[in-house]
Amino acid sequence: MKAVILVGGQGTRLRPLTCNIPKPMIPLVNQPFIEWMLMRLRDQGINEVILAVQYLADRFRATLGDGSRLEMKLHIVEEPEPRGTAGAVKNVEYLLDGPTFVFNGDVMTDLDLRAMLDFHREKQSKVTISLTPVEDPTQFGLVEMDADQRVKRFLEKPRVEDLNSNLINAGTYIIEPDIFRYVPPNQFYMFERGLFPVLLQTGDPMYGFPSRAYWTDIGKPPTYIDVHHDILIGKVRYNFQGQQIANRVWIEGEAIIHPSAQIVGPVVMGDGTIIEKGARIIGPTVLGPRCQIGPDCNIEGAVLWEDNRLAEGVTLRNSVLGRNNTIGARCFIADGAIIGDDCVLGPENRLERGIRLWPGTQLGEKAVSF
Ligand code: GDD
Ligand code: MG
Repeated sequence: MKAVILVGGQGTRLRPLTCNIPKPMIPLVNQPFIEWMLMRLRDQGINEVILAVQYLADRFRATLGDGSRLEMKLHIVEEPEPRGTAGAVKNVEYLLDGPTFVFNGDVMTDLDLRAMLDFHREKQSKVTISLTPVEDPTQFGLVEMDADQRVKRFLEKPRVEDLNSNLINAGTYIIEPDIFRYVPPNQFYMFERGLFPVLLQTGDPMYGFPSRAYWTDIGKPPTYIDVHHDILIGKVRYNFQGQQIANRVWIEGEAIIHPSAQIVGPVVMGDGTIIEKGARIIGPTVLGPRCQIGPDCNIEGAVLWEDNRLAEGVTLRNSVLGRNNTIGARCFIADGAIIGDDCVLGPENRLERGIRLWPGTQLGEKAVSF
């Protein structure tokens, strides 16, 4: 079976992490998110995938190639200009030949695809939309169904006064290709504001498939840290790479850890990690490849990408470091702070409460005490 993954969005809400890298390529536990997604599809029997991309396509090609490394067939198709969610699939319609899975490229879920396909067939549905409950549906697509789970209304980004349920479009669809006759060619057109409302008019059968599977949209910064915590504490099914060296402590390759350092899982360390004397690494934490953690650092609930260097006594708590940052002695970084790539922080800066540093920022000694 084939699938299309929509990976065209700019990922603006995740900046500065997405300044240098497309949103689906950002690392999730030291692996590009899209790679995790492809492996999950492959393991559920989908072996041919079309990535509908529209910017930084070369980055996708460089990392994923033709998919043979992941034992699947991969087509990376670039749109001439943004075509919207449905227009992007229309653009690759020539590659489709039967019921096809379509995925938003920024959703982390362990949804059972086979069960969804069985449901789609049993209902003889033309479009089946996976649904998930959320606390605040106003940022999503609200879906209303009848007793038979047939979709009765689809409201993208509903107003508070329109809410009458908490079930939203979870961003996984099964689509019969013949419905693309309703999608105008070579135009910007969306499933959410175009095709789904049209299908409600034409009466083509469209069904909702609610599920309690793990689900989150990784495209929002607090959830980027949360999703790491959820994976590490085991809330979502996940295959860890590397070797487990202690209770929920994994190393992907080689690491040098000073005997006086303290590591409390769940922690994942990339290849080439160095942890110096007296440092404490408390999970859920992910250290990217080649990170160097100086003496007496305190790291807890943090996500570090590769090649970060922390001098002595740095505290890093519930925060994200992009790649290749140099953090001066005794800096204190906490409460959802996000540091882009290639930043250099002098000693004793204090960054807290969701502060974001853009790539290449340089701070002198004690320049920020937020
Ligand atoms: N190729 C391509 N071209 N992909 C696109 C385009 C485009 O023009 N526009 C958006 N995408 C991709 C994005 O990269 C993302 O993976 C997916 O389509 C959804 O776009 P978002 O921008 O992330 O939309 P959203 O999160 O506000 O809302 C969507 O997802 C929610 C679930 O997370 C909608 O589908 C909602 O109905 C849904 O509830
Ligand atoms: Mg999204």
